[in-house]
Amino acid sequence: MWASVELPAWARPLSAPTAGPPERSSAFPTTPSGLPNVERGRRLFHTVGCAVCHGIDGAGGVRNPNYVRDTIPALDRLAERMLLFEKADVQTVIEGLARHDLPDTLPQSGLPRWPVVRAQYESLRNLIWNGNPAGKRDPRGPEPIPMPAWKDRLSSEDVDDILAFLLSRSL
Ligand code: HEC
Repeated sequence: MWASVELPAWARPLSAPTAGPPERSSAFPTTPSGLPNVERGRRLFHTVGCAVCHGIDGAGGVRNPNYVRDTIPALDRLAERMLLFEKADVQTVIEGLARHDLPDTLPQSGLPRWPVVRAQYESLRNLIWNGNPAGKRDPRGPEPIPMPAWKDRLSSEDVDDILAFLLSRSL
């Protein structure tokens, strides 16, 4: 079972990521949007440990031995994954994530494919909360590094902010 896999120390997420207000850091470039939820999501992404596996700003490139996809997936194309091809649509979703009412307000958002956008949002949120085993290339080979579960560490607001940050990569 993947859950019993002991991750190397560098791959283990830090605990208690949300204690206290985030401090301003100049280590990462600012986003074009400059929105508070995007900035908070950027900080969470880099402080809780996502960037260790998914790369700085979700750029990817981290090797995952015996994983079907070779490297841990990049997360800088989530807008396309949510079928958001126009910057204005990405902005609409980021604003819904800032209010933390995206699923309820999408039907009135005017987005052409809002049911798919909502389904993708829910599946990404569940994947982040529940984690996922990483498929093995060679079934007899070693267990690849899995996607850890974050439901005890990230609130729904935290996940919204992280997704807002990742979506802002497409603005
Ligand atoms: C220990 C390494 C590790 C850490 C830390 C990690 N992930 Fe992952 N993540 C993975 C792996 C491996 C996968 C691919 C799993 C699979 O193939 O289904 C993945 C998949 C994902 C996916 C789906 C991507 C896709 O294209 O299918 C998302 C979204 C994601 N992670 C978000 C996050 C977020 C947000 C954080 C921080 C809260 C995080 N991950 C922390 C290893 C990690």
